[in-house]
Amino acid sequence: MPPTPGNKRPLPFIGNKLEIPKEKSWIAFRKWNEEYGPILTVWNGTTPTILIGDPEIAVELMEKRSTKYSSRPRFVVAGDLLTENRTILFAPYGERWRAYRKALHLATMPKSVDTYRPIMEMEGKVLANDILTNPSNWYTASSVVAIAYGRRVLDIHTDSAYQKLARNIDFLTSINVPGAQWHETFPALRFLPSFLNPIKKAAIGFREQGRQNLRSLVEEVRKKMQQGVAPHSYAKLLIENRDKYADLDEVEFNGQPGSLFGAGVDTTSATLQSLVLALVLHPEVQRKAHEELDRHVGSHRSPTWDDEDQLVYVQAIIKEILRWRPVAILGGTPHASTEDDIFEWEGKQYFIPKGAIILGNLWSIHMNPKTYESPEEFRPERFLGDRQYPGTGGKGHSSFGWGRRVCPGAYFAERSLYLTATRLLWAFNFSKATNPITGNEITPDASMEKGYTSGFNTRPHPFPCKIEVRNDAIRETVEREAKEALEDLRVFENYYD
Ligand code: HEM
Repeated sequence: MPPTPGNKRPLPFIGNKLEIPKEKSWIAFRKWNEEYGPILTVWNGTTPTILIGDPEIAVELMEKRSTKYSSRPRFVVAGDLLTENRTILFAPYGERWRAYRKALHLATMPKSVDTYRPIMEMEGKVLANDILTNPSNWYTASSVVAIAYGRRVLDIHTDSAYQKLARNIDFLTSINVPGAQWHETFPALRFLPSFLNPIKKAAIGFREQGRQNLRSLVEEVRKKMQQGVAPHSYAKLLIENRDKYADLDEVEFNGQPGSLFGAGVDTTSATLQSLVLALVLHPEVQRKAHEELDRHVGSHRSPTWDDEDQLVYVQAIIKEILRWRPVAILGGTPHASTEDDIFEWEGKQYFIPKGAIILGNLWSIHMNPKTYESPEEFRPERFLGDRQYPGTGGKGHSSFGWGRRVCPGAYFAERSLYLTATRLLWAFNFSKATNPITGNEITPDASMEKGYTSGFNTRPHPFPCKIEVRNDAIRETVEREAKEALEDLRVFENYYD
């Protein structure tokens, strides 16, 4: 098998569990990959986890041999207890997973995503105006909820759909961290009764409440359809095509639009937060983007989908942000192998047993100097020109995962990141805030160690910054376009609660 870091012998029953940090394990994994090699084994209890720190190895195993490496490990808390594995993210490779993925394609295949283009553009216009009016309080959940259920989120603090959906995701991201739950090392703990087992009690409570919430959101769409007032949405399409997805029972069916929110909001918003952080720290990057936007778009209209081919530098910024601070830092949910395998790399043969957990640690992969020169630096220029990055399928990064489990929302996310990032860059200048007492500039910490959160999806800790509209003509355009967009978005503001 691939070596253990430092050739440490795993302890009986608990393996290397004591050496795996509970917080930000990806930092230790990266150090181990740098020190002991690009493919390693650590033992979490009696299950081996294969740590991959090289994009080509990730592709070799999870893409080229995807029939063997496309399952998920067993998650006792998030899988068995919280979701009963009846959701795409945790479902083992097989017939149920295929059914979920097929139903999700109705929302995520490029042809469908393109039908949501007007919603994404209108929400972007409103967002720019929200930032203009209140730069310290803005958020980006609305277009995902509008696409999933045909209803807008006006205020995340009070919107009932947002609250219903976010509660479960917050719980999930807080528990779903490798090494953090003893239940994962000792699955039998799940048999302890709930009164002695607070995490089990919490998971079951969230499951029941979560299912009720998902049902009520789908029911609302059904009701609006009966009244002829339901706008275009994924839930509406699913209901219209219910017979094509007859193999999904009610819990699975109601969970589908929810999975857009679960997988799409946290990831996209964290990426945008990292973008703002990078822009604050790199005024030279911003200047180049502004030049490009001024040249191709100007101040009297905002950038659209059709400008993309011209905005080469902005596209490079988006790629670089996905590489530099990948939100799904451990490569998303790990894969699991379903057959024994022998794998040869740089003249050595490794045995990878059936049931191993396969972890493509993006913090190792994206910071691997063999692939990326000065990987720590935020440098969009690395994606200009025709340099290829082996193992990244032409994208230049591995942020959307691999093989059959590759993020089905990648096209959706790329469209939505492009539209939002381009608009933010076009309209605003992001810079360091000043300390009101000393008058000194405040430099936010962008290091993974101190500047980033430790959950399953990682995002910057809140940081102060200054956001200013770039000129008066842009201000006018933002205000005018937001007014028009709000008119058109009225149909999405029809709720029953
Ligand atoms: C910046 C945005 C996003 C990033 C970085 C991201 C990244 C990822 C990664 C790394 C995985 C795991 C892939 C693997 O196991 O190999 C994943 C899975 C998934 N993503 Fe995304 N994602 C993003 C946005 C979205 C959006 C917008 C949606 C939905 C519209 C979505 C839906 C999903 C789903 C359903 C899965 C589970 C797939 C499965 O297990 O078969 N993601 N994503």
